[in-house]
Amino acid sequence: MEKEIHQLNKAGTTFRTIIEPFKIKSVEPIRMTFRAEREKILQNAFYNIFSVKARDVIIDLLTDSGTSAMSAEQWSGIMRGDESYAGSQSYERFEKTVKDIFGFKHVIPTHQGRAAERILFSVMCKRGDVIPNNSHFDTTRANVEFQGAVAEDLVIKEGLDPQNQYPFKGNVDAEKLKALIKHVGKDKIPLCMITITNNSGGGQPVSMENIREVKKVLSKYNIPLYFDACRFAENAYLIKLREDGYQDMPVKEIAKEMMAHADGCTMSAKKDGLSNIGGFLCTNDDLLAQRERDLLILTEGFPTYGGMAGRDMEAVAVGLNEVLKEDYLIYRIAETRYLGDHLYETGFPIVQPPGAHAIYIDAKATLPHIPPSQYPGQALVAELYLAGGIRGVEIGSVMFGKVDEKTGKETSAAMELVRLAIPRRVYTQSHIDYVLEACKRVWENREKLKGFKIVKQAKSLRHFTAKFEPF
Ligand code: F0G
Repeated sequence: MEKEIHQLNKAGTTFRTIIEPFKIKSVEPIRMTFRAEREKILQNAFYNIFSVKARDVIIDLLTDSGTSAMSAEQWSGIMRGDESYAGSQSYERFEKTVKDIFGFKHVIPTHQGRAAERILFSVMCKRGDVIPNNSHFDTTRANVEFQGAVAEDLVIKEGLDPQNQYPFKGNVDAEKLKALIKHVGKDKIPLCMITITNNSGGGQPVSMENIREVKKVLSKYNIPLYFDACRFAENAYLIKLREDGYQDMPVKEIAKEMMAHADGCTMSAKKDGLSNIGGFLCTNDDLLAQRERDLLILTEGFPTYGGMAGRDMEAVAVGLNEVLKEDYLIYRIAETRYLGDHLYETGFPIVQPPGAHAIYIDAKATLPHIPPSQYPGQALVAELYLAGGIRGVEIGSVMFGKVDEKTGKETSAAMELVRLAIPRRVYTQSHIDYVLEACKRVWENREKLKGFKIVKQAKSLRHFTAKFEPF
């Protein structure tokens, strides 16, 4: 990763310090709490961090989704919003921007990413189909399964090895993809997805070479390729830093080249749209677009707003251009890398190399005395909150463990991770230093941590509402 650091420095300034490339115009106070207070709060929340109130959190690293700070330009867009039901000017600006960057023929606005997923899979999938992906995000998997289809994760083997330093651990295993197509038959695969960057697999990027290779395999069988494009700008910038031949290409051109290989995409503008809400679905297929718009009208809204207000579309249109600015991306990657490198120095085993939107701590390796059946990720999330009021999220067996309905027996997830996601343009260097200080205390105390058991859970997406008890 030396090359990446060199590139970052070259692209930054002649100074070693990479600064936040913005000034702060509006602030939101943080309420400070003490450990004794947090102990009570966590107990009352049945140790589920999703049940803790935001006002009781000091640094909120639960998600990078919908948590961005908007720019002055975006707030101006909010005032400009045209709230006409049909043919809004805000939609025109939104559509023009999306077409300019993503290049697809049809742009269908939705209130967020999962609405785009639901419409896409409702229209393209049927019971018994199989959808390959590098790794499905939880809502993507749930939407595939809701149609009675099977979600297959085909990430390369390096992507499942947290310590491996391979630069594109989000890549799809093209051999596994070929084998899957041969095994189930091309007619059972209505589309293939690639998640850029691969959120469930540690926020790892996908290389342009891999995108080309996957497209080549799919073209042979006439299977369309769709991106789950939530973090497309971060993926494009990591290509610039890590893949030969892209160092001198503007990141917007890299993004366009990525998109040119696909037939469509789903997008949550809550990530690389730098907005608090919004999303879209794109396709080049006229017939599909028609059916998708019909469904959109039924549940989301008229095709010139989907589920968004006019002002939201303005914020997204501005955000999509701002997210491609290289000053912003240099800072974004540097902030995440700073957190990752210092956690590693403290001793934490993290998913290597650091990506763009989050650092993922390997909880299984951090807490080897807690077996996966007692949720080491949950134990770490709880202690991070107690130590510093920091909210992270478990991405392990609480989120992805499978409970057999007949026997009640649980199969653990492939990895036990804790994600510290960094909201865009929200926290400064000293906030991250505070997180590191709290993490150091957790590290020093790690041998005393205990596992958890689940005492109440829902049948699907249980992590949001489960109740826990410490062992
Ligand atoms: N795809 C990926 C890769 C995502 O990370 C998310 C959301 C979605 C789809 C769904 O988008 O939330 O707008 O409906 N990820 C958030 C997260 C929730 O915390 O990682 P949405």
